[in-house]
Amino acid sequence: MNTLEAIASRRSIRRFKDKPVSRELVERLLGAAIQAPSGKNRQPWHFVVVQGEKRSEMLAVMRTRLAELKKQGVDLGSAEWSAKCMEEAPVTVFVFRPNGPEESGGPMDVVDVQSIGAAIQNMLLAATDLGLGTLWICDVFYAYDELRSWLGRDDQMIAAVAIGYADESPDARPRRPLKDVTTWLER
Ligand SMILES: Cc1cc2nc3c(=O)[nH]c(=O)nc-3n(C[C@H](O)[C@H](O)[C@H](O)COP(=O)(O)O)c2cc1C
Repeated sequence: MNTLEAIASRRSIRRFKDKPVSRELVERLLGAAIQAPSGKNRQPWHFVVVQGEKRSEMLAVMRTRLAELKKQGVDLGSAEWSAKCMEEAPVTVFVFRPNGPEESGGPMDVVDVQSIGAAIQNMLLAATDLGLGTLWICDVFYAYDELRSWLGRDDQMIAAVAIGYADESPDARPRRPLKDVTTWLER
């Protein structure tokens, strides 16, 4: 599969087969992630891989928090569904930005987040190429403090990526036409 084919065929996957993903494959995805470009080559990422029996603890942490928020009347949006995706997926990778607190709130915040986005997209495209499905998840922010603490991190959580073998093949979601999102300045 070439790069453009991977870009065109990637989908967000929300149903996964009950089939493990080998450590070797996960390492290949992470290997693709760390080849991403990054501002000043800072490589501002750290990955925490949750799999096996640890998944049930992760889900308990997330769902306990979601239940608390629900009780408080908070609109959970798609968070419960995202938790279900994490339950089905055999692997969830959390992505952190391990910078010193002196950087927080500074101009490198935006630069680093762009770099991490590139790394996550590399992971997604590599997964597509390797026959795996992925879901990029920011609903983990509903349980931001709880998950960070459970994962043993005190840095910035950026996202999670659920990984597994797809048990669905969704159609492409619509995109706004290129002409609506592009301005050409020529003369
Ligand atoms: C930064 C980011 C956060 C996302 N968070 C979630 C999420 O928490 N739950 C979810 O189901 N999908 C999430 N998605 C997936 C988007 O809903 C999806 O990419 C979009 O609807 C387009 O569909 P496609 O990925 O199949 O092209 C996220 C995507 C991105 C890029």
